Amino acid sequence: MKRYSVIFGFLASCMTAVWMAACGPIGAEEPFDPGYFSLPEVAYFPTQTNEPAANPLSTEGVRLGRFLFYDLRLGGHHDADSLLSCASCHVQAHGFESGLDNDRLENGKMRGAAGFSTVHAMLPLVNIAYNTRCLGWNGAFDYPSKHLEDLIRATLLDTAEFAGTVSGIEERIRGIDWYPPLFAAAFGTSQVTFDRICQALAQFVRSLVSHDSKFDRFMRGETILSDEEMKGYVLFVTEEGADCFHCHGGIGNVLFSTYEPLVNGLDPQEAFTDPYDRAFVSGQASDKGAYRVPTLRNIEYTAPYMHDGRFTTLEEVIDQYSEGLHYSPHISPLMHHVGDKGVQLTPVEKQCLKAFLLTLSDENFIRNPLYSNPFRHDTIPGFEEESAQ
Ligand code: HEC
Ligand code: HEC
Repeated sequence: MKRYSVIFGFLASCMTAVWMAACGPIGAEEPFDPGYFSLPEVAYFPTQTNEPAANPLSTEGVRLGRFLFYDLRLGGHHDADSLLSCASCHVQAHGFESGLDNDRLENGKMRGAAGFSTVHAMLPLVNIAYNTRCLGWNGAFDYPSKHLEDLIRATLLDTAEFAGTVSGIEERIRGIDWYPPLFAAAFGTSQVTFDRICQALAQFVRSLVSHDSKFDRFMRGETILSDEEMKGYVLFVTEEGADCFHCHGGIGNVLFSTYEPLVNGLDPQEAFTDPYDRAFVSGQASDKGAYRVPTLRNIEYTAPYMHDGRFTTLEEVIDQYSEGLHYSPHISPLMHHVGDKGVQLTPVEKQCLKAFLLTLSDENFIRNPLYSNPFRHDTIPGFEEESAQ
């Protein structure tokens, strides 16, 4: 009997616990539900993403991340000049690259909160969620040992970028009274921590998906490419043509990058003077002058080009691959035509190749209101976002 009553007592307390969890004690907060957030379903996109189990995408997480991404107070710790947000450098109209007209730009590099220039030119923020190889020009954030969250943490602390401290950033964000409720909605409690700041920012960055360029509409059978664009596409994906596809995809790989760190035949006198190349990460001499292949999506908006921003136009880039290649002992074996200094395109072929590259521009991405600055009209946080639906 005694045994039964123990079991029964145990069951009764379990049921009470279940009831309490379901109904909640009187006066408790609503059950925590940050809302399911799914990336757009694109049939020909990769199914794998770099979303860590510890930081799944949620509607409230992405929403909080968007405010943080555009909040100038994230960097403003010295004086008004050091006010800095992710969007000071990553500008939506430029595919979340800096853009040539950005007043923080110096020779393709950006100046951070402490006034120092970044070591490399910018990288755009596009389809980052699908990069399961490595992040950064030198691929220092190798997946899966390092995550986007780690890159963002480094960005916030780096003297060439935010030059912040963990406690300084936490205190600044905590001190803005409408942030703690947004943290509660995204993470279950209103605690503002540095880790949560990085997690929410990573969620917003992962939500930036470009899948509506002319090339995408062509892939979906909704439009056709012009003769010129089609010729450029064929050149792009053939070895005897412009031979771009081994590194930049185009068939099968719609991210337009393998994200492998490689030497692509830039002038070694210039390219190999940078101490922060792939060799800095790997310690391998063969990685001297190697950089991670960048995506070509939205390339029209993301000048200047290459890790040091040496080219300002696509014409210059195409000339480089056509007749400007330099041999060096560790050049990627995929640069098949280096013996001829390049793929030797005719002027008409160059024009076609450029026309194809321009089909990767996604106007709906650079104008998507859900990616835009939520503070623009100084409204109540969230107002713009809701009215943009
Ligand atoms: C001062 C300018 C500046 C600011 C501010 C800035 N970035 Fe960047 N970002 C860069 C530069 C430059 C790179 C390329 C760095 C490199 O790889 O050497 C970069 C690279 C990145 C990358 C890697 C992209 C890829 O394809 O590998 C991500 C992600 C990123 N930034 C996110 C952010 C976020 C989030 C913020 C805000 C917390 C931010 N950045 C603030 C300049 C900036
Ligand atoms: C062997 C691999 C490889 C091949 C083949 C290749 N690229 Fe690249 N591409 C790279 C690498 C690596 C970089 C970055 C190099 C750097 O910044 O130092 C790059 C950079 C670029 C950039 C600059 C992007 C930016 O955001 O700054 C453009 C544009 C480009 N490539 C276009 C092309 C075109 C067009 C072709 C074909 C004619 C081509 N690439 C062939 C590896 C390759």
